[in-house]
Amino acid sequence: MLEKFQPAKADPILGLGKLFQADPRDTKIDLGVGVYKDASGHTPIVRAVKKAEIILHETQTSKTYVGLAGSELFRDEMRKLVLADAAPSERVATLQTPGGTGAIRQVFETMKMLNPNCTIWISDPSWPSHMAMATHMGFKTRAYPYFDAATRMVDAAAMLASFEELQAGDLLLLHGCCHNPTGANLDMPTWHAITDLVIKKGAMPFVDIAYQGFGDGLDEDAAPLRYMAARVPEMCIAASCSKNFGLYRDRVGAAMMITKDAATAELVQGNLATLNRLNYSFAPDHGAAVVGLILSTPDLRADWLAELTDMRHTMLKIRTDLADALRQQCNSDHFDFIAHHRGMFSRLGLNPQQVDSLRDDHAMYVVGDSRINIAGLSGDRHKPFAAAVAQVISLT
Ligand code: LMR
Repeated sequence: MLEKFQPAKADPILGLGKLFQADPRDTKIDLGVGVYKDASGHTPIVRAVKKAEIILHETQTSKTYVGLAGSELFRDEMRKLVLADAAPSERVATLQTPGGTGAIRQVFETMKMLNPNCTIWISDPSWPSHMAMATHMGFKTRAYPYFDAATRMVDAAAMLASFEELQAGDLLLLHGCCHNPTGANLDMPTWHAITDLVIKKGAMPFVDIAYQGFGDGLDEDAAPLRYMAARVPEMCIAASCSKNFGLYRDRVGAAMMITKDAATAELVQGNLATLNRLNYSFAPDHGAAVVGLILSTPDLRADWLAELTDMRHTMLKIRTDLADALRQQCNSDHFDFIAHHRGMFSRLGLNPQQVDSLRDDHAMYVVGDSRINIAGLSGDRHKPFAAAVAQVISLT
């Protein structure tokens, strides 16, 4: 039976990493998978994470199971980090999950149970796994207009017009901040308009916030989501600690559901725990224990915040440096949008031949849709990259 499988397709983001590793050129630059890199191209362990791990190593006395929904400390700290006081705690159910992707899966699982015929609305473009997971689970999907290829910014008018066709119970997936792959974010007036629309249509907003703190700041990045959370009767959230805590491989995330009242939150909380049991039993503990300890210990939290701020400032500086370098190299302001984008990524708008040429002729690895990981350009790598981009656009 097992031979019936078709050969697995390479993941559009992770597949690039294998090609990069096999490339012998020492000038190569990896702008693929979204991990933070320092000036030497290394992805460091966040200082507060290392300190928390040492504390846990010394103080943990047992590896017995934690509750099915995960650590209470972690869940409570994550709710406060993401929502602050936007929704009363008794109206929020929170589940510890294996990464933000695990949270997305559990939100989709919930829809499978409660409204399997709903349509899941996903921005065009989006992180490829959003659409892949929704279709894999058999949902109807709709890609909504998002990115204006000409301006490299959000086409809010086209997006809002499409939302007029939202049906009650549809799941509307929005990126909380730092849109992946484009780097182009919704502005606050657009969030206000979407909030009004989901209330009017009875749709379920689902905000994926995987990069909180990588855009303009922890509170600034969560502000749109909090605005919405304070107004809608129900809402789903997937939060990730992969990027802002650098805990990629430890798989730390949380699914949150804001419910209409406290009794419903209790009902949802029990069902979310059951969903963990049905899918993988317990979410992994280690990374969540680290995050819970950091967020609840003032000096660890302060150190984490300082390092997160440094990471964000490094990426913001790379954005302006790259936009400047491209202005000089191309003698045009065509790429100025890079400085206005936020988060880890920008989509450059290069065609597939230009992306191939960057890889084959310049050893610069960019995702096929021309998404770059801004952090991959630290250590002055923006200079050779800008020169290479200028060259590939001049040839085609
Ligand atoms: C990315 O978009 O590069 C990250 O979210 C990592 C991943 O799993 O794709």
